[in-house]
Amino acid sequence: MYELCPETPADTPEVEALLDLCFAPGRTALSSYRLRDGVAPVGPLCLMLRGDFGALMGAIRYWPVRVAGRPVLLLGPVAVHPTTQGEGLGALLMRESLTRAAEMGWQRVMLVGDLPYYQRFGFWNLEGVEMPPPTNPDRVLGLELVPGAWAGITGTVERETGESAPGQREMRREGGAGLAPPDHSA
Ligand SMILES: CC(C)(COP(=O)(O)OP(=O)(O)OC[C@H]1O[C@@H](n2cnc3c(N)ncnc32)[C@H](O)[C@@H]1OP(=O)(O)O)[C@@H](O)C(=O)NCCC(=O)NCCS
Repeated sequence: MYELCPETPADTPEVEALLDLCFAPGRTALSSYRLRDGVAPVGPLCLMLRGDFGALMGAIRYWPVRVAGRPVLLLGPVAVHPTTQGEGLGALLMRESLTRAAEMGWQRVMLVGDLPYYQRFGFWNLEGVEMPPPTNPDRVLGLELVPGAWAGITGTVERETGESAPGQREMRREGGAGLAPPDHSA
């Protein structure tokens, strides 16, 4: 029996410990972490799976980024405790969070990861979207939550500064960096 719940600040040390267990040492040196530095995660999409006795069995996090000035969700990290990998918990975290992202109004998602795993959720290799180096371009993957949402969007992935800029209107409509619901009237 598993419980799915949002990550709160009090959960952060536990989630960090799970990530340290699941990833190789030095994970925070990856370029994707530079896009997260000083930027608040998208709280409603950062989910945890707790099992018996409240043990943390899995977690997924999302951050806002920009490509060509357009708001994009950066998925990751996602991790499942080694004792329960291969039981579908990763897929549960992926599907539930992506459904919630679409409900919030986000249009497009990207991540850096293995296509053989993520293609089952609809991800494909994003050509022309560049992560800060060093990143293998074959591992830069994208997903459209709205058909055509990645069409014509190329360029360098940039940190979400939250400053007023072209695209702000779309960010609000999409749910953007913030926790506020999207403004569908825009
Ligand atoms: C990747 C991860 C989150 C998947 O979670 P999980 O609960 O084990 O995954 P699921 O049970 O939903 O799916 C298992 C399937 O995915 C496959 N799979 C897992 N990781 C894979 C990878 N990196 N590449 C290809 N396939 C992979 C398994 O072989 C299995 O295949 P099968 O369905 O044909 O048997 C988990 O294995 C993990 O925490 N790994 C270490 C951290 C990591 O690499 N995170 C992803 C990078 S952000």
